[in-house]
Amino acid sequence: MTKVTVIIGSPKMEKGNTSFVLAPFIKGMEEAGASVELIFAKKLKIRPCIGCFKCWRETIGECFQQDDMEELLTKLRETNILVIATPTYAPLPGELQNILNRLVPLVEPILEFREGRTRAKPHDEVKITKIIGFIVGAWWELANLDAVAKIVEELTELFSLELTDAVRRPHASLLRHETNLNKSILQRLEKAGYEFITERKIDKSDLEFIRQPLAKQEDYLARGTQNYLKRKAEHK
Ligand SMILES: Cc1cc2nc3c(=O)[nH]c(=O)nc-3n(C[C@H](O)[C@H](O)[C@H](O)COP(=O)(O)O)c2cc1C
Repeated sequence: MTKVTVIIGSPKMEKGNTSFVLAPFIKGMEEAGASVELIFAKKLKIRPCIGCFKCWRETIGECFQQDDMEELLTKLRETNILVIATPTYAPLPGELQNILNRLVPLVEPILEFREGRTRAKPHDEVKITKIIGFIVGAWWELANLDAVAKIVEELTELFSLELTDAVRRPHASLLRHETNLNKSILQRLEKAGYEFITERKIDKSDLEFIRQPLAKQEDYLARGTQNYLKRKAEHK
């Protein structure tokens, strides 16, 4: 059975837009037979990486820091697919950044320069074969999510794995409205989750359907500004 670990970066956890958009994708992965575990970054006590590289020089494959990262690393060694699900915070929520930096013990510096990038090698016991980004944001434009997508790509390259295009959902809060288009996007997210487990990739047309605009840019900006000005006036 494919084991999937989803690390969720949103400090709003189950209540956030990330979890809302992610839910059908997880359903699809489970329908395809995967066992999926959700890890909320905010629930864990994980200190920042101090950059000592003891995990490469002394304790080989283990971090000297004793905190919740020990258990997470054990889980991740058994995981086949890692999903990094997060809102963009230009670029990442702090708790998630701490986790990503503390992944260094999973790889060893047996180095190779390939396709323009230095790559390490996952330790033999690490079973991760795919890393995918699942990124939401508030701004209208898609390009706002690129910085996070790039971070997940860097991580994928560090692990010497093939790149997988991220699932992206800009102006994600609009997906919560009950419209026919939103229903079909949520269905497509479920299909994408299924496809990702059965084929280990997501069709480009599905990714494009999921990230399509849900409002006109000028209307979205105007509504956001109006809502803010109304609240500001109420608080005076
Ligand atoms: C500090 C901070 C920085 C943010 N930066 C961006 C950004 O650059 N682009 C964007 O589209 N959204 C940005 N957002 C908005 C969040 O990505 C957005 O509200 C998202 O839907 C929150 O997801 P959540 O409800 O799961 O926490 C930012 C939010 C915060 C708090």
